[in-house]
Amino acid sequence: MKVRAVIGGILVLSAMSLAAPVEDIRNTVHNLATYSNDTDEVCVFCHTPHGSNQSFTGAPLWNKPIDNTVTFQVYGGGQTTGGTTVDQPGDVSRACLSCHDGVSGVNTVINMPGSGGWNSSGTNLDYRGSTLPWKMPWPFAIGKNGTGENYDLRDDHPVGVLYRGDETYPPASLKPTNTEITGWNISGDKDGNPGPTIGDLLRKGKVECVSCHNPHLNAPRFLRSGDGNAYSNVCLACHGK
Ligand code: HEC
Ligand code: HEC
Ligand code: HEC
Ligand code: HEC
Repeated sequence: MKVRAVIGGILVLSAMSLAAPVEDIRNTVHNLATYSNDTDEVCVFCHTPHGSNQSFTGAPLWNKPIDNTVTFQVYGGGQTTGGTTVDQPGDVSRACLSCHDGVSGVNTVINMPGSGGWNSSGTNLDYRGSTLPWKMPWPFAIGKNGTGENYDLRDDHPVGVLYRGDETYPPASLKPTNTEITGWNISGDKDGNPGPTIGDLLRKGKVECVSCHNPHLNAPRFLRSGDGNAYSNVCLACHGK
């Protein structure tokens, strides 16, 4: 009996470590409809099938206004200790920051559910009982320095930073981009290397929010590892420390 339970446990454990976490946004905090009296639609807070933000290409069919002229203060004043330039967050990170900057309305959408509710500068859906812009609170406002300055990424892991893992002496002990990663949720082959690799986590060769997170994932903190960074697994995927 006991032996069977132990073997069962091992089977369950190995199945867990093999199965990558699954995309199902409905049971996550990114299902904003849970808190809305206006709509039960899940995707509308981020995407719309028609009338999307045409001037923004960072995420498909984006249903939120984004001011691309906003300049963020970046990590390390624009340089890592390894001497790599830290640029402005890339487009896909700006998609996240259009809610997670602590300034923009989380509930502000261009195309309201139903017909006729189109406004390029945005209208607010009911969210948590209000139709005022609902601004992301601490600690979820990543683009804000604590309760202090806005548009501030200085205290966050660099995004918009090139991944220089293929150099002979890579900074920050980065692993080569063709290093295979197992058990993560990674879709699409972005770099042509066999198997899901570090290269598939990068955008234009850079680390962005979606290198570590997938906003649709039913997993702790939307982390692609599915394990909420247990044993710093997320960090060790790229850093050979
Ligand atoms: C909280 C915001 C948010 C919500 C809600 C959301 N998405 Fe997304 N979605 C994104 C972002 C950001 C990207 C870009 C991700 C990337 O490039 O890695 C994206 C990309 C996509 C893509 C293209 C890339 C891919 O992952 O296949 C599809 C398809 C998609 N979303 C479908 C949906 C559907 C369907 C829903 C509703 C069931 C939904 N999304 C809800 C933020 C969201
Ligand atoms: C439409 C607005 C919106 C967009 C766009 C959005 N988020 Fe969120 N996100 C939220 C809300 C709302 C919460 C929950 C905040 C709270 O609990 O008060 C959240 C929570 C989170 C959390 C914490 C989850 C937890 O388990 O505590 C993470 C991580 C996160 N988002 C990452 C991202 C990333 C990465 C992107 C871009 C790929 C993104 N989000 C885009 C609205 C958004
Ligand atoms: C290098 C990997 C990495 C990158 C890049 C990254 N994150 Fe995270 N993020 C994490 C990890 C790991 C956690 C979980 C920390 C914990 O739970 O201890 C996290 C947590 C969060 C949380 C939850 C904060 C909380 O206190 O609960 C939010 C929101 C979030 N990230 C959003 C973002 C956004 C937006 C970006 C892009 C600007 C981003 N992340 C870029 C790894 C990353
Ligand atoms: C997708 C790959 C990736 C993941 C995952 C990742 N990093 Fe990084 N990290 C980088 C890159 C790229 C740099 C920039 C290195 C350089 O060129 O200096 C970096 C830089 C750093 C630096 C050095 C910053 C400096 O000023 O030199 C630290 C510290 C760091 N990461 C910690 C972490 C931690 C902690 C985690 C896990 C929560 C993590 N990283 C996850 C890619 C990653």
